[in-house]
Amino acid sequence: MQKILKGKVVADKIIDKIRRLSPKRSLGVIKVGSDPGSSSYLKGIRKTAERADVEIKVSELAENSMKEEIIESVKEMRESNEINGILLMEPFPKEISIDELIEIAGPEFDVEGIHPYNMGKLLLGEPQIIPSTPGAVLELMDFYGIDTEGAHTVILGRSKVVGKPLANLLLRKNPLGNATVTVCHSKTENLESLTETADILIAAIGKAEFVTEEFVREGVIVIDVGINMKDNHLVGDVDFESVKEKAHAITPVPGGVGSITTAVLLSNLYKL
Ligand SMILES: NC(=O)c1ccc[n+]([C@@H]2O[C@H](COP(=O)([O-])OP(=O)(O)OC[C@H]3O[C@@H](n4cnc5c(N)ncnc54)[C@H](OP(=O)(O)O)[C@@H]3O)[C@@H](O)[C@H]2O)c1
Repeated sequence: MQKILKGKVVADKIIDKIRRLSPKRSLGVIKVGSDPGSSSYLKGIRKTAERADVEIKVSELAENSMKEEIIESVKEMRESNEINGILLMEPFPKEISIDELIEIAGPEFDVEGIHPYNMGKLLLGEPQIIPSTPGAVLELMDFYGIDTEGAHTVILGRSKVVGKPLANLLLRKNPLGNATVTVCHSKTENLESLTETADILIAAIGKAEFVTEEFVREGVIVIDVGINMKDNHLVGDVDFESVKEKAHAITPVPGGVGSITTAVLLSNLYKL
């Protein structure tokens, strides 16, 4: 296995596979207002979709849209025969949450795998739609032949979109599962005593360069999901330079897991 686990080659392989699938699929996107983070995410999705030959239909609503208008545009997409999956781009006005909207969209349009039905299937070990970030981690592991069976895998972070689904996926009785999983969060005590026993360490906490060399043992495989701004640069949750010296393999930021997520999102359209 190479030491620096880059994401682009993994994404290219997924995009190439999508391009050869037929019939072509369309992704509906609901976006409210002009949040710069979600605008740049959408730009990235458009670029990947173009390469994958997937159509994108965006419903852009004004910042001050009423709850009813947003619900109506989700319903319209559901009822249109041209949309195969709906991406709900946060943030939404405080009157409505993504949880309410995904219930309206329904599990059959849930391209992000966040509907309670799809989350439930994942928890049961029978995922139909895997959320894009955990999906990207699994694709990366598969591509580089990371053996999870019996490996002590420590996950930093228990969010609904990353840590929790990932922990359950890695627990599956599956070639990409069978790991012994420890999930850590902000109330975990003696974090370092847990991380230094990890064969595989996955960081998803949103704290710039938090994981330093003291957290890891020689030969660890490190997967950094974090995306943080530090001094006008993107950095991960892992202090790449110091941890790289001890790691057997490590993902960079940018250029690691983040490069794969939109490709996984688009591939989910073909699973819905
Ligand atoms: N690569 C991608 O495509 C991608 C996609 C999504 C997210 N991300 C990035 O991944 C990171 C995590 O995202 P998220 O949405 O999962 O974040 P989140 O919802 O804020 O969750 C962060 C998790 O980290 C835990 N945590 C915070 N500080 C900690 C500490 N000092 N020690 C141990 N655990 C700690 C929190 O614990 P509590 O539960 O106790 O609060 C929480 O479970 C962010 O940098 C985000 O930008 C990347």
